[in-house]
Amino acid sequence: MRQAEQADPGWQVFLNGTFVPEAEAKVSIFDQGFLYGDGVYDTSCAWNGYIFKLDAHLDRLFRSMHAVRLEIPYSREAIRSAHIETVARNKLREAYIKCVVTRGQKAQLGLDPRGRTPTVVIFARPYVRLVTPDRQDSGIRAKISSVRRIPLEALDPRIKSLDYLNLVMAKFDAIDAGMDEAILLDTDGYVSEGPGYNIFIVSQGRLITAPEGVLMGITRETTIEIAAEKGIAVEQRRFSPFELYTADEAFFSTTAGGIVPIVEVDGRRVGDGRTGPVTRAVDARYMEMLTNGEHGTPVLSNLAPAKVTA
Ligand SMILES: Cc1ncc(COP(=O)(O)O)c(C=O)c1O
Repeated sequence: MRQAEQADPGWQVFLNGTFVPEAEAKVSIFDQGFLYGDGVYDTSCAWNGYIFKLDAHLDRLFRSMHAVRLEIPYSREAIRSAHIETVARNKLREAYIKCVVTRGQKAQLGLDPRGRTPTVVIFARPYVRLVTPDRQDSGIRAKISSVRRIPLEALDPRIKSLDYLNLVMAKFDAIDAGMDEAILLDTDGYVSEGPGYNIFIVSQGRLITAPEGVLMGITRETTIEIAAEKGIAVEQRRFSPFELYTADEAFFSTTAGGIVPIVEVDGRRVGDGRTGPVTRAVDARYMEMLTNGEHGTPVLSNLAPAKVTA
């Protein structure tokens, strides 16, 4: 391992109920999450010392766990506190926070999900962007992948499961084509989402986004709220690649990157090929919410003083 890749002994990780230095945060190779992708996760973020929409992220995490019959020996309140403490212990104002819950392990190998002790991990790192800041501003070029999004009859994308191979394969398509990002269609040929993003188009002053068959993104939800504030109509309905190609604007929404303009798809310019006014307005308001603590859980005032300095 190169020096730069070595674990920083300063990072603290929540692992099964206790905080440990990252170097000691080890999970067994027999963990079902590692062996079979049998687990769920959620990614949230902190800006300016506030965790944005923490409760919405926890609701989604607990819904994912419920849907896949994963029960953990910690209350929602304990997991909530652990999120706050993870950010505080790592002294981060801007953070990328990930909570991973797997089926865990037991002595006997095999797919039988019963009788295992779940693994629960929460870690935080300086905020990670899926897209570099220059791209974020000028917009990205996307390719519609030949890989279709897993349909909800097979594995409902509302479950934020650890199984991301479907999205990773689509990402390869984009990389091979020299594009920045992939867009997946559903099995009926309508636009679904990207690897880590929801998608919106702007057409005749309205926002359009897929109604189902996608992760219910927290940034998606926030975009819809921002649109309501600004009097912009939102249609949650299926839309085709044709509507994407001919839209006035298009953008991705994600916790790990915010509002990301899409200026080209499959060699077609979207709108005038530049970040459009609706995208800019949504982005500006979203960034304002993140940084001014709206919907934010303050990290420091939620901690006992002893823990702040721990
Ligand atoms: C498949 C997928 N869609 C959409 C999103 C965006 O969701 P959010 O806005 O909650 O980050 C993500 C985020 O990880 C994702 O993995």
